[in-house]
Amino acid sequence: MFDAEEFISEAVENLKQQIDDIAIIACSGGVDSAVAAVLAHKAVGGLLHCVYVDTGFMRKGETEQVEAMFAAHGIELTTVHAADRYFAALEGVTEPEAKRKTIGELFIRVFEDEQVKVDAKYLVQGTIAPDWIESGGGVRDTIKSHHNVGGLPEDMTLGVVEPLRELYKDEVRELARTLGISVAERQPFPGPGLAVRTLGDLTPERVGVVRECCAIVEEEFEAAAERGEMELPWQYYAALLPVRSVGVHGDVRAYGETIVVRAVRSMDGMSARYSEIPHSILQKVSTRITNACKGSVNRVVYDITHKPPGTIEWE
Ligand code: XMP
Repeated sequence: MFDAEEFISEAVENLKQQIDDIAIIACSGGVDSAVAAVLAHKAVGGLLHCVYVDTGFMRKGETEQVEAMFAAHGIELTTVHAADRYFAALEGVTEPEAKRKTIGELFIRVFEDEQVKVDAKYLVQGTIAPDWIESGGGVRDTIKSHHNVGGLPEDMTLGVVEPLRELYKDEVRELARTLGISVAERQPFPGPGLAVRTLGDLTPERVGVVRECCAIVEEEFEAAAERGEMELPWQYYAALLPVRSVGVHGDVRAYGETIVVRAVRSMDGMSARYSEIPHSILQKVSTRITNACKGSVNRVVYDITHKPPGTIEWE
């Protein structure tokens, strides 16, 4: 039986032993890096530098939420606003693997700049057991190269400290609850963020459409689940497809793109079944999306593909 209180006091003691100089951690806003950061901060306080990179592919309000969460724990967080660099690097890049590679490489460069600035000697990471069990030839990574802050190069010459290395997700969630970390119950979100939900050209405008539509899907599904009208899926989002179709707004012809809504039931993301969502709720989502994105989107479709054969994300 996992004892969160006991784990926390042991981990803090170990971190005190391991870190005797400046340490840096990349915080994604996800639960793993947040828990690792809070533990390391308890152990070494000001020696720890927490860095959050705003790539421009975050969900609506996400950057503000991450900043508020760290502030609530009295931890200083450096937000690097790197959206312009990401959009410039991704200009003309539409092939999914090339996109993922560009995003991963730029993340390393942005993070290395911060590491040099603070002269860090240690790198704290929120790596958990499935991260290293699944790497090394897992099926998953041959399908898509996953981008995580855990994917930093080994030649970084930093001492790597991984306080959560032996834990599984449910144990990390329990730690988060015990530590009062508010991201504990969030749905999974891919490392490259909204970039892999924006098929085709990555422009601030198109990513903005995806951000708004993801927020609408989240709001409507969560409200409907709260009312008991549906079961909350394991993951649910909107993606923008570069498929234009003819529509009509008022009396005027429109020629906009397509939003696909995806929602799945899953245990661990390795396989998934599409969720059966009541039509009344899908209809509400569709109306809100076409109203919010007039001129950009004039058609909304629902994805009824299981995994396999489809993956959960579209890219
Ligand atoms: P797929 O699309 O491969 O996704 O069926 C399975 C689960 O993994 C998430 N996902 C990622 N998570 N880095 C991550 O940490 C990534 O690069 C990444 N790509 C996909 C996806 O959202 C789903 O929960």
